Amino acid sequence: MYLMRYLSFALLTIGSLASEHLASIHYTISRRGGSFPAPDIANLTYLLEQLKEVELRFNATTRDFVGNKVVRKPKRQHGTQSSSILLGEVGREGNWFANLHIGDPMQEVDMDLDMLTADWWILSTSSEKGSFYLDFNSKTYVEAESPLTVPTCREPTDVIHLPTIKQSISASFALCRPAKQWIRSLLPSGAYLGLAPSAALSQTKTTSIMQQLIEKSIIDTPVWSLVLINGKDGIYTIGGTSASSLRQAEVETNDELARYANYEVKRDVLVASRSTADIEMATALSSEEWKWSQVQGAEGWWQILMRGVWVDGIKELENQLIVLDINTPFILASPVAARAFYSSISGSRKLPHPHEQFHAYPCFNPPKIHFEFVGWNVEVFKGNRDKGTFSPGGRFSLGRMAPGSGYCIGIVVESRMGHKTSIGSDAAKMGFERNMEGGNGLEDVWIVGEPFFRDVQVAFNWKEKKVGMQRV
Ligand SMILES: *[C@@H]1O[C@H](CO)[C@@H](O)[C@H](O)[C@H]1NC(C)=O
Ligand SMILES: *[C@@H]1O[C@H](CO)[C@@H](O)[C@H](O)[C@H]1NC(C)=O
Repeated sequence: MYLMRYLSFALLTIGSLASEHLASIHYTISRRGGSFPAPDIANLTYLLEQLKEVELRFNATTRDFVGNKVVRKPKRQHGTQSSSILLGEVGREGNWFANLHIGDPMQEVDMDLDMLTADWWILSTSSEKGSFYLDFNSKTYVEAESPLTVPTCREPTDVIHLPTIKQSISASFALCRPAKQWIRSLLPSGAYLGLAPSAALSQTKTTSIMQQLIEKSIIDTPVWSLVLINGKDGIYTIGGTSASSLRQAEVETNDELARYANYEVKRDVLVASRSTADIEMATALSSEEWKWSQVQGAEGWWQILMRGVWVDGIKELENQLIVLDINTPFILASPVAARAFYSSISGSRKLPHPHEQFHAYPCFNPPKIHFEFVGWNVEVFKGNRDKGTFSPGGRFSLGRMAPGSGYCIGIVVESRMGHKTSIGSDAAKMGFERNMEGGNGLEDVWIVGEPFFRDVQVAFNWKEKKVGMQRV
């Protein structure tokens, strides 16, 4: 596709502009299956299916104690050891992914990004689905000596070719090859990059690619970041941040539009290329521009405190914990929080069963919403959807409730994730019983998904465990 080709070109030419720090590595990313659908009339069946899928992904872990710390750990699946199946789903529709270049001669493998898991692995199955890494075709492949504790996985090394900085390094990774008789051998092949900050979630106990890049002095900043250009294209950056200001860039695209007039380049593409260059020059991580929040709660995910939720200029909720996840197409809130939120939107109403997790509001009057974090307020879900897609009610809308209806489904939905799980006897011994019983720790937590990543560029410092934000 032309868009991706241009982006790669643009990203390749700006690698040398950084000064104080080593240059960051930029990967273009895409959403598998394209943008989340934004039809005129919402397909409630589809939306509910997607919501259940989100809840399942979040429900795959549980909390436990390690020493005196509460951490998230993979849940035992029925009849299996928790370590026998890796968290995450290679090749899942709706995952954001980059292209991993590996081996000699170079092979291209789709690499899904997952903020809820912590392992870097390649799944190689006998199914025809997905994208393939063929170790026997690579001259630089070095077989591992001993298997990992995760069944069917080993830890070989091969050469990884890094985009934009144009370097190649030898790196180790988990390579998992389920035997033919396993159900898992029917799954798609491909690579998977867990981006969660806690090693407690790691099942392979291997060293992440980002850590290896630090150890080999390829990058010097323990930060990765994401910026989305539209509903299906974005930039994932390792070792720094992607873009200082898309707003600024947007003003200046006219020259370039003329220069690239022979091609039917979208404005979006130019914005992306310009903003990536901007950040390299601005060296990025200055504290005035980036607002940092410390990660909180059970160690595992990118969970931070949102100071407030403002609806039409009034602070309706304060001190809400949120988990950031780019692969979630909604904003999920607890039933209590979601109802408080919609009660301040006049004319809004909850949908009847079986769609009671959704609320509708008058399409002609979308609310003005701000999320407040340490030191700043940012307006979210503002404006229209991507060109080429149509949904009444702007970006806050998932579509009309029914044909001809003046009501639109809001992108903030009620979660059903507050269920009971036991945290084990250690917790009881330590007197945590009352606090921990009652759940997986998600009953009061918001899941802030992809729509937010369109409004804010987000940087993740995995060493200091903090999240930085800046307006797009
Ligand atoms: C709505 O979604 C369901 C489930 O994904 C799908 O089977 C159905 O075809 C969709 N309906 C329309 C009108 O698109
Ligand atoms: C989450 O998993 C538990 C079992 O561990 C199950 O009882 C519960 O129904 C699940 N919740 C959701 C929302 O899927």
